[in-house]
Amino acid sequence: MPLTHTELEGIFRDPNLPDRERFVTLAHTLAEQHPYEVGRTRIVFHTNTDVMKVPIAEEGLLDSWREANWSQRYGKTGEIPIATAVEEFIDDVPVLRMERVRMPTREEHHTLPRWTGSVDCAQVGWTAAGELVAFDL
Ligand SMILES: Nc1ncnc2c1ncn2[C@@H]1O[C@H](COP(=O)(O)OP(=O)(O)O)[C@@H](O)[C@H]1O
Ligand SMILES: [Mg+2]
Repeated sequence: MPLTHTELEGIFRDPNLPDRERFVTLAHTLAEQHPYEVGRTRIVFHTNTDVMKVPIAEEGLLDSWREANWSQRYGKTGEIPIATAVEEFIDDVPVLRMERVRMPTREEHHTLPRWTGSVDCAQVGWTAAGELVAFDL
């Protein structure tokens, strides 16, 4: 579902996002090819195996950097395992590419291990390999 100019203006509201136009242009292009959902600080595009998180606000730059950094430092072995994520540049825009996870159902939420309680809103899911990981720190 392509994003209209008006929708993009609504999504990219933060005037402090540096080089905002580049982010808008990239999101416009990606929306023509991928399903997407609008998060708090990123717009997230889905591929079959990965998601691409494009910052929509200045804070999103930091959120993506933190997740890439955490993934690189601790991977899935730390106290809080995280989905594999790397920062890459598409048209000079920093995009966080992260492996896609399956969200827990309502019933599964009751059986999650204790560590998931320290992830904001229990934003965790299962990788294709069946590992339970955080996808948003
Ligand atoms: N790794 C992932 N696999 C599947 N869906 C994801 C993944 N990361 C994010 N999403 C989806 O995108 C939404 C927004 O992503 P999120 O990382 O929470 O962005 P934000 O922190 O900007 O709100 C999530 O609520 C979830 O539905
Ligand atoms: Mg979130």
